[in-house]
This record gives sequence, C-alpha cells and structure tokens, in this order.
Amino acid sequence: MSETEVAPPGVDPTIPSPARLYDYYLGGTHNFQVDRDMADRLQTATQGDLKDAVLANRGFHIRAASWMARQGIRQFLDLGSGLPTQNNTHETVQAVDPATRVVYVDNDPMVGAYATMLLAGDGTTTLVHADLRDPDAVLASPQLREMLDLSKPVAVMMTAVLHFVADSADPWGLVSRYMAAVAPGSYLALSHGTADKMDPSAIKTGEDLYSRSTSNVYFRSREQVGRFFAGLELQAPLPGAKREVSYAGLWGAEDPSAADTDGSRAIYCGVARRP
Ligand SMILES: C[S@@+](CC[C@H](N)C(=O)[O-])C[C@H]1O[C@@H](n2cnc3c(N)ncnc32)[C@H](O)[C@@H]1O
Repeated sequence: MSETEVAPPGVDPTIPSPARLYDYYLGGTHNFQVDRDMADRLQTATQGDLKDAVLANRGFHIRAASWMARQGIRQFLDLGSGLPTQNNTHETVQAVDPATRVVYVDNDPMVGAYATMLLAGDGTTTLVHADLRDPDAVLASPQLREMLDLSKPVAVMMTAVLHFVADSADPWGLVSRYMAAVAPGSYLALSHGTADKMDPSAIKTGEDLYSRSTSNVYFRSREQVGRFFAGLELQAPLPGAKREVSYAGLWGAEDPSAADTDGSRAIYCGVARRP
C-alpha cells in the first residue's frame, strides 16, 4: 500500500501498528511508510534477526495449526490473527478438512478493514473485531457462538500476540480463562517474543520503537512463557523430544538444525492439550 492511498476508516496511517509491521515483514502490502520505516530500523538494530524471527514464528503458526487439525480438531480460535497473508489459518486447516471452522479475533482496525480477504466466503470463517484482553466479550460474541461449539474441542491459537499484553492485564490469567472456556481435548498453540538470547541494545531499541507504535512490547523469559502452559499437557516439539517450550523454528521442523537460527531464538513456543 503506498502512502498516497487513503487509509481505511479508523486506521491512523501516521502511527505504526504491530499488525502492519508484521505484514511488512511477511512481504505483505497492507502497511504504510511509518510501518516500513520502523520495521527497517528494527531490522537494522537486530542485525536482520527480526525478519528471521517473524518467519520462524509464522512457520510455527502454520505447522502447529496443521498438526492440531491432524489431531482431529475441527474448530479454531485464532486470537491476534493479524492481516491476511499467505497460508492463512483457515487455508492451512481446511486443507485437512474443508469443513473446519475458524474464528479470527484481532483489535487492529486495519485487520477489520481487510477481513473480507481473510474469510473463506463459504460460512466457515469469521472475524471478531475485539480485544482479547476482554475474554468475556470475545467468548460471548454472537459471531463466535454461531461458528464454534465450545462443548467440543477447540484449537486456541495465541501466536506472537501476548508480548503485546502487559503484566497488568494478566496474560497468564487470560490464557487460563480461554482454556477453561473450551472442552477437554482442546489445544493451545502459543508463541511469544523473548529477550533471553538477544543483544540488550537491540532489545532497548525495540522497546523504545514499539512504545511509539499503537502497542508496547513486553519480552518474557522462558520460565514466564512456560507458565502459560500451566495445567495443560505440553506436547513434544519434535518426535521423541522432551515435552518442553521450544524455539519457534524448531517446533515441528523438517530440518531442525537448519531451523535453529538466531532469529528463531527470539520466539519461544509450545503446543499443549487441555486434559
Ligand atoms: C505479530 S502479529 C501476529 C499474527 C499471527 N498471530 C501470527 O503469529 O502470525 C500480532 C497481532 O496481534 C494483534 N493484537 C495485539 N494485541 C491484541 C489484543 N489485545 N487483542 C486482539 N489482537 C491483538 C495485532 O493487531 C496483530 O495483528
């Protein structure tokens, strides 16, 4: 999208947003000059690792969605879904079963504006424009209730989104609330940015830049990310591996040694089953 184009209603093209930054890193066109400028500064500060981290994260999202579909899950709740991209969640899981239902939730008005591109158009997908920090509103939304039967297993996806939720909003409590609302046998797929392996000056630049976007960023440690899976059965990231939080590139990787890049180590992830 060029800066001469008019922003959709409700979208401020002068302040970068995480959804548009992410879209730019993935090669999308739903972004403005402010997004590209900030993304380029972040890319320089991280010596190229940020784009690598985004690609590793999106790869995890797709592999985890496909894996959960292959476990027999036919309902998906994608919280913080992002802008339409290649291999959207519904395209990935409907390759396993075309009847699979997907509810996307995002609070960015740009995502709302481009929702029609995200949706399958056959009644199997919907977008709820809402803030995931209000689980009561999300879970009670008529669009969600029409699409999902919460008495049957649901795959809840929260990938690369909770690092935009402050401790004061209790992201751990939010995950528990969503997982308590879905049936036993449901899954959680979650990924989250971390500063554990990143250069402190790059982290500082990232935090400063995001503080001037529509959302702050909150990096968390391996222990803090591990706590999102409390009470759930964490799955092994690779066949025969230990059941633990992994780096995004490694989870389900075809070639783990090639996938274990520096950028991939900026994102922890895991998939867990609700017993
Ligand atoms: C980095 S993108 C991740 C997109 C996708 N989940 C993925 O991993 O490929 C983060 C998305 O979360 C959305 N988001 C951030 N905070 C949110 C909130 N409180 N409620 C709903 N969506 C949120 C942003 O608008 C953005 O689209």
